[in-house]
Amino acid sequence: MPLLVIENLHVEVEGKPILKGVNLVIEKGQIHALMGPNGSGKSTLSYTLLGHPKYTVTQGRILFNGEDVTNAKTHERARKGMFLSFQYPTAIPGVSVANFLRTSLKSIKGDEGVVKTFRKNLREKMGQLEMDEKFATRYVNEGFSGGEKKRLETLQMAMLEPKLAILDETDSGLDIDALRIVSGGINRLASPERGILLITHYQRILDYVRPQFIHVLVAGQIAHSGGPELAKELEKKGYDWVKHPAGAA
Ligand SMILES: Nc1ncnc2c1ncn2[C@@H]1O[C@H](COP(=O)(O)OP(=O)(O)OP(=O)(O)O)[C@@H](O)[C@H]1O
Ligand SMILES: [Mg+2]
Repeated sequence: MPLLVIENLHVEVEGKPILKGVNLVIEKGQIHALMGPNGSGKSTLSYTLLGHPKYTVTQGRILFNGEDVTNAKTHERARKGMFLSFQYPTAIPGVSVANFLRTSLKSIKGDEGVVKTFRKNLREKMGQLEMDEKFATRYVNEGFSGGEKKRLETLQMAMLEPKLAILDETDSGLDIDALRIVSGGINRLASPERGILLITHYQRILDYVRPQFIHVLVAGQIAHSGGPELAKELEKKGYDWVKHPAGAA
């Protein structure tokens, strides 16, 4: 059974149709990359997958492990193992990174055992991501640099160990070393049991994280899909040939 099935998904935001029939299947063990021009609906798709209330599904459905989650609440989806790393992570003043992570872990895994090993686990994961221990006591994303916010998203993913990770431009704004470190975090999560949907604008991250499939979203539809070589082709040729395929009017 596929991990994720997106079937003819149509989505509106504030009455405006954005997604116009998206179809995508992610099997366990697969890494898919989603590319496409600004405003084509990539973030809309990721928010919809996690059930953001602003995004209304007007047609189609989302199946996670065979279960229809199209109308499920965000926390239900998270508990089932879906995770979204935001393109623009927000600050949570007054809540420390450690407390935030402990609370999310508890609410998602609902297991005291997980919480007992929390400190050790956190230290280990922060070490892997080469994060200074001081970050644990700082307020979530407050005053964090762009790259630090992305690293915190990766830390959250590493702690929660989701079955499906949707990463919305986790590579944007990362310096060369941070890109390698964050990619390492993504690769450590990848396993035959898990799936990853990586939204990106740049071929660069795909030198570290190797998707088997690349899709191009144009105007709310997947206009083109291919193998890893497609990213290099897009980098060279841009999106025009996908938007206006030869022979099309
Ligand atoms: N809350 C909203 N209200 C109005 N329009 C919205 C809203 N959210 C998204 N849109 C519109 O939906 C379209 C798709 O936006 P989305 O953020 O999904 O694009 P994207 O593919 O992620 O782009 P980028 O590459 O710039 O991140 C855009 O035209 C955007 O203005
Ligand atoms: Mg976006």
